[in-house]
Amino acid sequence: MSLSLNGPGLWYATRATGLVTLLLLTASVLLGVLTAGRFASDRWPRFLTVGLHRNVSLLIGVFLFLHIGTTVVDTYTNIPLISAFIPFSTSYKTGWLALGAVACDLMIALVVTSLVRNRLGHKTWRRIHWAAYLCWPVAVAHGLGAGTDRTTIWVFALTVLCVATVAAVATWRFVSSAKAGAR
Ligand code: HEM
Repeated sequence: MSLSLNGPGLWYATRATGLVTLLLLTASVLLGVLTAGRFASDRWPRFLTVGLHRNVSLLIGVFLFLHIGTTVVDTYTNIPLISAFIPFSTSYKTGWLALGAVACDLMIALVVTSLVRNRLGHKTWRRIHWAAYLCWPVAVAHGLGAGTDRTTIWVFALTVLCVATVAAVATWRFVSSAKAGAR
């Protein structure tokens, strides 16, 4: 079987890898909030959350690489590699792809600063890491705007599930830190 550079194969791959990247990004935000909120139970020790958060975040890099790769290689849309990093540098779905580029840049900043966290110092690293709260909604908007599958019920339901999950865990974090502050 061959993968044509202008057939629908790459287009399917872009959509599939985009969805997996978004699911992993949601899982990473969820695990990150649980880590910051020091969540732990008898069955779920804290090191599990910390380790999963790190590994899921690295896996995002793999799927984002594939998502960008299939986008750029697909000769039907003719999207240049630079538009993965520089917003508004393609004429294809310009605004929605600009959001993808912003999410990608933020993702790179989050991963790179986490890899050199010891050198940066905890305070600086933490400030930069707040960008995760921006990266995730920007990526959600990109997927909803650029995606072909957004009108299918299962993709829409999956996106709603992602939004509900992050909203729930962010509420938990906010309430638990407000309670800790009141003590
Ligand atoms: C963290 C960053 C990103 C995430 C989480 C993400 C996720 C997604 C999702 C969920 C979709 C919708 C798939 C569908 O429903 O059909 C999508 C579509 C798309 N993404 Fe991304 N994306 C990201 C960055 C990028 C970048 C940097 C590019 C390259 C310029 C890009 C190119 C595209 C294209 C061309 C589509 C439309 C595919 C179609 O025609 O259906 N994305 N992305």
